[in-house]
Amino acid sequence: MEDIKIAVIGLGPAGLTALKSLREEGFDVIGFERRDELGGLWSFSENATFTSALNETVCNVSKFVSGLSDYPIDKDYPPYPTGPQIGKYFNSYARHFNLLDRVRFHTTVNKVTRNRSGDAWDVHVTDPNGKAILCFDKVVFGHGCESVPIWPPMPSRGLFKGTVMHSQAYKSPEPFRDKRVLVVGIGNTACDVSLSLRGHVAKLYQGYRRGRIMVSRYLDNGVPVDTQLSWPIMRLKYLLDDKLPWLMMQLADKMMTDKMISDAARFEPATLGISRKERLNQAGRRVREDWRLLPGPSMAHTHPAVQEDFIPALHQGDIIPVHGFKDFAGDYQILLQDDAIVEVDAVIFCTGYDLDFSIMPEMDMDGAGGMPLQTAGDACREEPIDRDDIRKAKHEPKRKPHLPRLFQMIFPPRWASSVAFLSWMAPQENVWCVCELASMAVAQIWAAEAAGSAAGRSHALLPSMDEMNAQVNAYHTWWRGEWEKNNSMRSGYVRAYSFYRFLHDAAGTGLYDNLDHMFSGRGWRLWWYDRELWTWLAKGPMNSYSWRVFETNPQGIPGYGRKTWKGARKALREAYEDYEEFRRQAEARHEQSEA
Ligand SMILES: Cc1cc2nc3c(=O)[nH]c(=O)nc-3n(C[C@H](O)[C@H](O)[C@H](O)COP(=O)(O)OP(=O)(O)OC[C@H]3O[C@@H](n4cnc5c(N)ncnc54)[C@H](O)[C@@H]3O)c2cc1C
Ligand SMILES: NC(=O)c1ccc[n+]([C@@H]2O[C@H](COP(=O)([O-])OP(=O)(O)OC[C@H]3O[C@@H](n4cnc5c(N)ncnc54)[C@H](OP(=O)(O)O)[C@@H]3O)[C@@H](O)[C@H]2O)c1
Repeated sequence: MEDIKIAVIGLGPAGLTALKSLREEGFDVIGFERRDELGGLWSFSENATFTSALNETVCNVSKFVSGLSDYPIDKDYPPYPTGPQIGKYFNSYARHFNLLDRVRFHTTVNKVTRNRSGDAWDVHVTDPNGKAILCFDKVVFGHGCESVPIWPPMPSRGLFKGTVMHSQAYKSPEPFRDKRVLVVGIGNTACDVSLSLRGHVAKLYQGYRRGRIMVSRYLDNGVPVDTQLSWPIMRLKYLLDDKLPWLMMQLADKMMTDKMISDAARFEPATLGISRKERLNQAGRRVREDWRLLPGPSMAHTHPAVQEDFIPALHQGDIIPVHGFKDFAGDYQILLQDDAIVEVDAVIFCTGYDLDFSIMPEMDMDGAGGMPLQTAGDACREEPIDRDDIRKAKHEPKRKPHLPRLFQMIFPPRWASSVAFLSWMAPQENVWCVCELASMAVAQIWAAEAAGSAAGRSHALLPSMDEMNAQVNAYHTWWRGEWEKNNSMRSGYVRAYSFYRFLHDAAGTGLYDNLDHMFSGRGWRLWWYDRELWTWLAKGPMNSYSWRVFETNPQGIPGYGRKTWKGARKALREAYEDYEEFRRQAEARHEQSEA
């Protein structure tokens, strides 16, 4: 494999795990990173054009499900690590696996194009020495999905004399000290930015056009929610999502709405003699009527905002909820969607991000679900919509977003043997762990192809180009149908049932062969022969150490399955014991406080 040169673009979690997985299979890999640090958005950057987690950002996934497959996360981290702690973890991962000498920092990849002879890729870079074109056999894109800021239309931008910025440029509350600020949006970023500004500014408004399901990271007893979602439970959920989507989405929305109201009820003023039911009703009224946090987009289209401190901040009046942003109306005035005016010195648009397609202009886009087939280059050249009739519409224009043609949101069918995108699938689980699984799958698929028929699995791992194209069309049609129902649908939102099976099969983790959902007979053998391992996998939080525990490739044939890790069993035991200990202590604390 050493004669196959692979470029990895971006050294966030996606690029980093790709570098490690591809090196593990023996490929000659070089990573390009425009920053001076690894870890992607988890390494804080003052640069206003680089998205980064704030120093006070707290992850929305717990440490119990956050370790990469052969490098356990620090046990001493809090249940939900902070942004800087995750950044530190990725940097120590890179050092542990000696990845640093494979990385070229301060190097921006401007674009990737097919070379003249059509047998390799030209990677156009800018580094401190200037511009250069480098040749690679294969390219992995790990350049992130939160890179291009989305701005709402601002027809009267010229009227406003205050500060206007996107959350991408927000780094700390300092520049806003004692100012009046409007934060626009109600996603995780908007809530984080408001909470970061809280206490530093003179007045803090948060404007949103519709609500968002917003839940605490914890159950009432102090146990992280995601620890309850074991492998068999999630497999059952994915199966039912696939077979009975209408029912599952109603159930998911109901469960999450109930949790949101139950979380909010914790902060209702304790009136003497008030019943639990009345407290919930009170919280429900406040959430729906006073704060308009419900209704919000269905869980079918986006994930919830995950916050504990936002509702207390609303209660205390530190954050003043207002209607969505409509336009600028004067020197320091903003017109809201209910036609009210607020006076502010700064507006921070936390209105999300688009995928950056410009990096590979030849990539195929759309071509199904009513959108014409075109290239990324054409899609990027499209004029922004800025028409009067749309501006006057009550809601924002429903401009159809473009979707890249990627099989499983990873492989462009035309170039599946040499191009993979690892940042664009929007999974339901911890993003960096899914990035690692996907990178293991890509490494196996390309290793099998390179080894040819000797490996026994060559080409069998990916379907034919026609089949991939048919699957892409079906995905686009499904995605656009959902987007029509609710335009909060996330780009690349994966269909979990087939997506995870594909990744695990391709990576060769052996997990589905040994354990599936609880009503499948698959796990009985493991339950019978190895009760301990079964318990950790079936009952414990769903961590990634299990991906390296089953031996699926004893002869080490390229493409037959990722390498196991000798420490996997120990890591699984320790992770389970740590979690159990944490749960016992949390429950004891909860019982004491209830007594
Ligand atoms: C504030 C915030 C908090 C989040 N919290 C969570 C969370 O708690 N849990 C979760 O699962 N997910 C979370 N996410 C989602 C996040 O996308 C993933 O956690 C993860 O960072 C994705 O990894 P990535 O490597 O694809 O992208 P990134 O982390 O964005 O890394 C991309 C890297 O590519 C580099 N790059 C980009 N373009 C180029 C180029 N042209 N040339 C060279 N280098 C380039 C960038 O500098 C960067 O280092 C969060 C996202 C944000 C914005
Ligand atoms: N602590 C954490 O774990 C953390 C922190 C920050 C971010 N993240 C993650 O990072 C990703 C990006 O999050 P994000 O909050 O930046 O983006 P997001 O989830 O896409 O939310 C964008 C918000 O902006 C609103 N919006 C979009 N376009 C608008 C417009 N034209 N006018 C008015 N409002 C508009 C949306 O409202 P509508 O619903 O009305 O469209 C939504 O409230 C997510 O995956 C998120 O979970 C995680």
